[in-house]
Amino acid sequence: MKGLVLSGGKGTRLRPLTYTGAKQLVPVANKPVLFYALEDLVEAGVPEIGIVISPETGEQVKQETGDGSKFGARFTYIMQPQPLGIAHGIKIAQDFLGGEPFILFLGDNFIRGGIVPQVNAFRHQAMDAQIILYEMNDPSSMGVAVLNGDGRVERVVEKPKQFISPYAVIGIYMFGASVFDAVNNIKPSARGELEITDTIQYLVDKGLNVRAHKLTDKWVDTGRIGDMLEANRLVLDVMEPKLDGTLDNSILEGRVVLEEGARVSNSKIRGPAIIGKRTVVENAFVGPYTAIHHGCTIRNCEIEHSIVLENSRLEDLHTRVADSLIGRNVQIKRAEGPTKTIRLMLGDFSQVGI
Ligand code: TTP
Repeated sequence: MKGLVLSGGKGTRLRPLTYTGAKQLVPVANKPVLFYALEDLVEAGVPEIGIVISPETGEQVKQETGDGSKFGARFTYIMQPQPLGIAHGIKIAQDFLGGEPFILFLGDNFIRGGIVPQVNAFRHQAMDAQIILYEMNDPSSMGVAVLNGDGRVERVVEKPKQFISPYAVIGIYMFGASVFDAVNNIKPSARGELEITDTIQYLVDKGLNVRAHKLTDKWVDTGRIGDMLEANRLVLDVMEPKLDGTLDNSILEGRVVLEEGARVSNSKIRGPAIIGKRTVVENAFVGPYTAIHHGCTIRNCEIEHSIVLENSRLEDLHTRVADSLIGRNVQIKRAEGPTKTIRLMLGDFSQVGI
């Protein structure tokens, strides 16, 4: 069995971060969200993995992720010239997959608890495809599945206008070779993409055995800022505390990780929180559910429930930063001049709450 991880796409909902970086590389507890998917596959005994990349962010993904050796895996990169849909990602991976059953994992999906039970079910039970379902009160913004009594999928509907079932289809799917007939025959949707929902429905219409696994643990599609913060909370909540950095006249409460070379002085860190390599925290408060990446400076300020990417500086702020996602090489500091002035230089699609 092989793995196929989709790490291309447009990432419009995470602009401006995705102007300069792949959304799958945005860190959750200081590790790219993509790495959790790759680790889940390896843990489930699937080390032969194809990674679909885009011309815009492919090099970056390759550089961060490597040839697979650091994961105990082998990666093959597959270029998707344009983001023509998730099913298009399968289509262009046909040679790599070579007719073997495979697991398709969307590189921005995060699932707590891994995928071992689902993969085992797919391995050991006779079925043509397996989808994973997440029960929601209102799944109307997603693909939604209707099941018959014995766990077989009867139909899947993209963004149904009326309530048909509480089961949203999440971004982890398992297919046998029959999926190629589907992706080679379905037509692009109104938005011009080959849709995964149409692919699954095609298999169902052919009378194939498409089954569903209902997820009991947490799942997050990290497409938007609130979702990134949620995935961050889920990982920080179960992270083992570790002190590889230095501490001077400071207080750590709860689960805190100080990565190698992190320096904390005259500060309080209330976990769960992680402070990245070589990051300096000085005269500061870092509150719960915060991940500060490598090479950052947090000085004379307070921050909580936030993610800060590498090499950013927050200094001399007289207000608490909360619920924020701050990109790479960002500088936020007190403006000189009248106290009510704020001075900004923000990229397109930035969002600021004052
Ligand atoms: P989406 O989140 O559905 O799409 P997107 O990445 O274009 O983001 P947005 O809606 O914010 O513009 O994609 C799910 C995952 O699949 C994500 O990891 C990107 C990847 N993907 C591809 O690799 N190729 C594609 O053609 C598409 C549509 C998505």
